[in-house]
Amino acid sequence: MASLSSFMFALTFLLFLFVGLLMSSSEAAIKRYQFDIQVKNVSEWWNNDVEEIVKQGNKMGLPPNMSDAHTINGKPGPLFPCSEKHTFAMEVEQGKTYLLRIINAALNDELFFAIAGHNMTVVEVDAVYTKPFTTQAILIAPGQTTNVLVHANQVSGRYFMGTKAFMDAPVPVDNKTATGILQYKNIPNTVLPVLPQLPASNDTGFALSYNKKLRSLNSAKYPANVPLNVDRNLFYTIGLGKNSCPTCLNGTRFLASINNVSFVMPQIALLQAHYFNIKGVWFMHCHLELHTGWGLKTAFLVENGPEQSQSVLPPPKDLPSC
Ligand SMILES: *[C@@H]1O[C@H](CO)[C@@H](O)[C@H](O)[C@H]1NC(C)=O
Ligand SMILES: *[C@@H]1O[C@H](CO)[C@@H](O)[C@H](O)[C@H]1NC(C)=O
Ligand SMILES: *[C@@H]1O[C@H](CO)[C@@H](O)[C@H](O)[C@H]1NC(C)=O
Ligand SMILES: *[C@@H]1O[C@H](CO)[C@@H](O)[C@H](O)[C@H]1NC(C)=O
Ligand SMILES: *[C@@H]1O[C@H](CO)[C@@H](O)[C@H](O)[C@H]1NC(C)=O
Ligand SMILES: *[C@@H]1O[C@H](CO)[C@@H](O)[C@H](O)[C@H]1NC(C)=O
Ligand SMILES: *[C@@H]1O[C@H](CO)[C@@H](O)[C@H](O)[C@H]1NC(C)=O
Repeated sequence: MASLSSFMFALTFLLFLFVGLLMSSSEAAIKRYQFDIQVKNVSEWWNNDVEEIVKQGNKMGLPPNMSDAHTINGKPGPLFPCSEKHTFAMEVEQGKTYLLRIINAALNDELFFAIAGHNMTVVEVDAVYTKPFTTQAILIAPGQTTNVLVHANQVSGRYFMGTKAFMDAPVPVDNKTATGILQYKNIPNTVLPVLPQLPASNDTGFALSYNKKLRSLNSAKYPANVPLNVDRNLFYTIGLGKNSCPTCLNGTRFLASINNVSFVMPQIALLQAHYFNIKGVWFMHCHLELHTGWGLKTAFLVENGPEQSQSVLPPPKDLPSC
């Protein structure tokens, strides 16, 4: 592997938003439970320009090339050649409890994440408290966040954290494991870390049982106030088809649709185009790569509410026209 600077890092912009949203709830929590907070992202790296990779895939009617590595806080860890220096390490003190905010900043891969010798207690997913449960590994989808508590209560030493992809369909995935190190204070770097047991790439049973454990906290203080009356039922079908494509390997490329319509990205921002009639636009889409590129998305157009605070502001005077 070449130097890290030659990597193109695919950054999800959602990420910062999530971190921001989580801040206020955590401040109260720190005061109450006194744990240390560590933000950690797990992600994918490509050796080449990600835009070029997507363009090439589209042109040839193939999925974009899979990533060349996974990373923990931007580093692939020592299981990759020439990357001993590129290892993320987190120091912990014996007896303390840590809140790890884990963010999946990958584009494609749902990732398993585990820490050798340490269970994790899941307490929050996507800025919503969950009924706490203990697990040896978590599963986290692109754009998702998961907060877990980890007790540094094992024999002082060095333990690998590991992340690798869940292969949710029989198509090739980047199957390499990225590692970082959970290191107890005062343990020398010469101690070899222990590897965690991650579920097998095709462990659908683990994925299903893990997702089944996710429940809202639904306590008196944090009730699950979901709307119980449905105003309008919507019927959705999701489809996959083929279109002719002269530059493609087989003369065809896959397309996806929602209710038999493949979404084609407009040249003008939807919100701008619809401002005078319809006041808000929200995308509902599949993961950004690959299916969104196939047209598997739709936009909800939301009208202004009665209050000013429920209305979209007019476009700024200096909105660039193009
Ligand atoms: C994608 O992978 C193929 C096969 O390994 C390679 O030939 C091609 O150059 C790669 N494309 C990009 C844009 O890196
Ligand atoms: C992931 O973590 C690394 C190291 O802290 C940081 O440089 C990078 O910006 C983070 N990525 C995202 C998408 O936040
Ligand atoms: C982790 O949880 C498993 C299953 O509940 C349990 O068997 C194991 O002892 C726990 N490990 C630690 C280090 O607490
Ligand atoms: C990972 O995938 C490569 C092909 O992309 C394959 O040759 C290799 O056997 C796989 N490794 C594991 C552990 O599944
Ligand atoms: C998972 O992959 C292994 C080989 O790596 C195979 O033996 C096993 O049958 C697969 N399990 C499922 C559920 O596909
Ligand atoms: C192209 O067609 C061949 C033969 O039918 C098939 O094996 C292959 O999977 C197809 N490739 C793509 C990208 O559709
Ligand atoms: C889906 O769209 C195609 C092309 O517009 C049309 O020929 C076909 O009848 C539609 N199918 C359904 C089930 O509406």
